[in-house]
Amino acid sequence: MGLMERIESREAGVGIIGMGYVGLPLVREFCKAGFKAVGFDIDRVKVEKLNAGRSYIKHIPSEMIGRLVEAGQFTATDDFTRLKEADAILICVPTPLDVAREPDLTAVIETTRSIAANLRPGQLVVLESTTYPGTTEEECRPILEATGLRCDEDFYLAFSPEREDPGNPKYSAGNIPKVVGGCGPESTRVASALYRCVIVEVVEVSSSQVAEACKILENIYRCVNIALVNELKRLFDKMGIDIWEVIRAASTKPFGFQPFYPGPGLGGHCIPIDPFYLSWKARQYNVPTRFIELAGEVNTAMPEYVIGRVAAALNRRRKPLNGSNICIAGMAYKKDVDDIRESPAITLANLLHEAGANVTYNDPHIPKMKTRHSALDLESVELTEEFLREQDCLLIATDHSAYDYDWLVGHSQLVVDTRNATKDVKEGRDKIVKA
Ligand SMILES: NC(=O)c1ccc[n+]([C@@H]2O[C@H](COP(=O)([O-])OP(=O)(O)OC[C@H]3O[C@@H](n4cnc5c(N)ncnc54)[C@H](O)[C@@H]3O)[C@@H](O)[C@H]2O)c1
Repeated sequence: MGLMERIESREAGVGIIGMGYVGLPLVREFCKAGFKAVGFDIDRVKVEKLNAGRSYIKHIPSEMIGRLVEAGQFTATDDFTRLKEADAILICVPTPLDVAREPDLTAVIETTRSIAANLRPGQLVVLESTTYPGTTEEECRPILEATGLRCDEDFYLAFSPEREDPGNPKYSAGNIPKVVGGCGPESTRVASALYRCVIVEVVEVSSSQVAEACKILENIYRCVNIALVNELKRLFDKMGIDIWEVIRAASTKPFGFQPFYPGPGLGGHCIPIDPFYLSWKARQYNVPTRFIELAGEVNTAMPEYVIGRVAAALNRRRKPLNGSNICIAGMAYKKDVDDIRESPAITLANLLHEAGANVTYNDPHIPKMKTRHSALDLESVELTEEFLREQDCLLIATDHSAYDYDWLVGHSQLVVDTRNATKDVKEGRDKIVKA
């Protein structure tokens, strides 16, 4: 039976490499559609947890993983020789920046080498990790073709970006249209056929480079527009204008305007990182990417701005940052997720700590906070009446739905709100500073 028939009959085995925020939701979708999936990860602890039916991602229930494992539909492994078993292999490994803020493709390259070591005719390989245009053709294809097998003839290779939005109750992997661009027409055809079995709509593009560029455009669009409202927030504040009210009003325009919201900086694994994959690649073509650099500059300056607002608010109460008790509400990079990667709240905590403040935090989704970027090693504290009374400032960095903002403001001495979370608070508005 050929690959297309195996896909159409759901008999194709799907191997998903990288059991994280992107890989696990894909396991769910493929299994839901009747495929068998094998999850590959170098992290043995994750592999063991999954095989024991335990999830480590909030919006992926353990019960669902357990059910799939028990039914023999899903298994996880760190044995990459089992890649031979898969008919389709999806790569969902991290694509971070290195210390010099340049693309670090180590995980993609290592994974592609593992695939090459097990490649057999008739397999489909799809890169899903966000990266600069050209990665699939220039980095993955040569490694796979070094086996002697020919791309688009003996095996198929494509890029299809992931658009997962963790914590979004309306959209998840299955109902977000998926862009697919192959390294050749056969590769596009086969990869599209696979995704059509599980995803509401497949959008074919003419090459893997277009698919890669599409994802980068989406992320740059967000990064630049968030920078724009962050910059306007600072200006409007000086002019005595509430940016949130302005955005609400502008959003009533039925065309030509999409709202973006300011915040304490950019967070998450994508928006603060991916645009710099393109600006790095652009250097090869000697074309400056000024929007990307400027947006990066504006967004990374936001935590400093917020600290300035906290300091000024404390100053009005004759208190210095040094020695003040400051609790950060929300450590995750956005509301209702358990992800602190690149979270601006970490930078806020570090800056406050450096200024001599006694920093604590609460986050219903993040019990402990220890990151490679942070010297702080903290545990989430409980927001009791007594604890809040002892705080000189409650700094709202993330607007989690679990918070009762009326209650928080009611029991705090000073609230600095970076998310407009306190907009509906009825009493105590004199204690609220927007930042
Ligand atoms: N998180 C999101 O919302 C999101 C959305 C769209 C796109 N993306 C992109 O998807 C990719 C994956 O992101 P993520 O958030 O799922 O990351 P993640 O860190 O949650 O998961 C990645 C997984 O890959 C594993 N891994 C690391 N190196 C590996 C290797 N060499 N071989 C096998 N497994 C390896 C890690 O142990 C981890 O479990 C990135 O390129 C990211 O930019 C993420």
